[in-house]
Amino acid sequence: MRDDVIICRCEDVTYGDIVRAVERGLTTTEELKRILRCGMGPCQGRTCSRLITRIIADKTGRSIEEIEHPVVRPPTRPVEIGVLAGDDEDRRGTGAPAGDDEG
Ligand code: FES
Repeated sequence: MRDDVIICRCEDVTYGDIVRAVERGLTTTEELKRILRCGMGPCQGRTCSRLITRIIADKTGRSIEEIEHPVVRPPTRPVEIGVLAGDDEDRRGTGAPAGDDEG
């Protein structure tokens, strides 16, 4: 594979970036994530994490099953503190800003 092939398109990380990192001793997906940010884009690694795991396995001689998967956090959305405090129970969970009295 050519070095300039994009593996993580969200964070613009190439195959060459990952290979060089693995050659420097970063051999887990979590380490690569922290240094290169691959897997931290809007898709949260849904597109690239399997490719990254496969590259690590290829370059270290380990099987894919031996490679740890990165920690996945669920998508979240901002919640106003007043909603958590129960100030505006009618709007809880609607995504509408508290104090927005349209309608
Ligand atoms: S492609 Fe890597 S985080 Fe989206």
